[in-house]
Amino acid sequence: MADAMKIAVIASGRGSNFEALASACRDESYPARIAILLSDNPGAGALAVADAFGIERAVVDCGPKKGSMSPESSSLMASLCVERGVGLVCLAGFMRIVKGELMRAFSGRMINIHPALLPSFRGLDAQRQALDYGVRFAGCTVHFVDDGVDTGPIILQRVVPVLPDDSVESLSARILAEEHVAYPAAVRFVAEGRVRIDGRRVRILDDN
Ligand code: GRF
Repeated sequence: MADAMKIAVIASGRGSNFEALASACRDESYPARIAILLSDNPGAGALAVADAFGIERAVVDCGPKKGSMSPESSSLMASLCVERGVGLVCLAGFMRIVKGELMRAFSGRMINIHPALLPSFRGLDAQRQALDYGVRFAGCTVHFVDDGVDTGPIILQRVVPVLPDDSVESLSARILAEEHVAYPAAVRFVAEGRVRIDGRRVRILDDN
């Protein structure tokens, strides 16, 4: 597809959501292509996934401070994306809060996936938070990234039941399967130009 939207994925770990996006992008008719995979972690499984798919990848040292990124790393990630004509940045298990130049350059063009039904259970260990709270339903959320942690406007959510004997592992696996459907679907909406942010609400045009 000539006019497919170029996306960048940023991942710190395993990379299964990145893999779901990479698989979707292999379909000729899918409206996005992955230009680059960025990671702050030289040991990230996502790097091996990039190699398996033949996707360019780069490791960017984001500094020693856990959960945050240095201004230099933010600028470097932003320029790597801009140089490649990236139209959408997809965070997929990036374990740092985005700020600085990357945030400025891609404001309104950066999305994240979170393993909970936001606004419940923001931040770390969302699946454990859901289990501990005793909710009957859990799920995942794809949302725009803003200055807060897991607070931006919601594009889509998928729901799973919480079963009586669930462990963190079993619930996480059930949610993860839905993440792998939700993320490619959300990227498709954005890449097709069908997503409008209207205050806190996100409108998907021509959604049947
Ligand atoms: C996923 O559960 C995602 O929702 C969260 O981090 C995890 C990343 O998993 N933000 P993977 O690296 O995509 O397998």
